[in-house]
Amino acid sequence: MLFVCLGNICRSPTAEGVFRQLLEQEAPGLQVEVDSAGTADYHVGDPPDLRSQRAALRRGIDLSDARARQVTIDDFARFDLILAMDRDNLRELEAMLPERSRARVQLFLEYAPDLGRLEVPDPYYRDARGFEEVLDFSAAASRGLLAALQKVA
Ligand code: 4NP
Repeated sequence: MLFVCLGNICRSPTAEGVFRQLLEQEAPGLQVEVDSAGTADYHVGDPPDLRSQRAALRRGIDLSDARARQVTIDDFARFDLILAMDRDNLRELEAMLPERSRARVQLFLEYAPDLGRLEVPDPYYRDARGFEEVLDFSAAASRGLLAALQKVA
């Protein structure tokens, strides 16, 4: 499972942290490799944005060890599922998609049909509400994703 956004400092590390917490709480026996990456290289090596870290910590999720990296071609062989936060990220991933890809590429919020939206808005230039939304949408989609995994596991 690879979560992907633009910078890998706001949305995708948050989604990764939320999904890890859910796995620990609800399915500790399930063996799933979880990581995140960005389509851009602006923030490679940086920890998550402090606003993301603080918002996540209020929900018991520590993102401080994460370091941004860019998506690589190897990710398409390493992961079964690559989950994009928005359509721009999805387009970038589809442009990289090798002919033989193990990974399927889709929008993360397809796992939360009740939200009535398919994109996690970029919170970088928004206020605190934007960061709370990233957490809320990630929580909803993580539940749907775990349910889907449990069906095939
Ligand atoms: P992310 O947010 O894609 O959720 O990590 C962003 C982080 C940085 C920038 C844009 C989006 N930036 O332009 O530097």
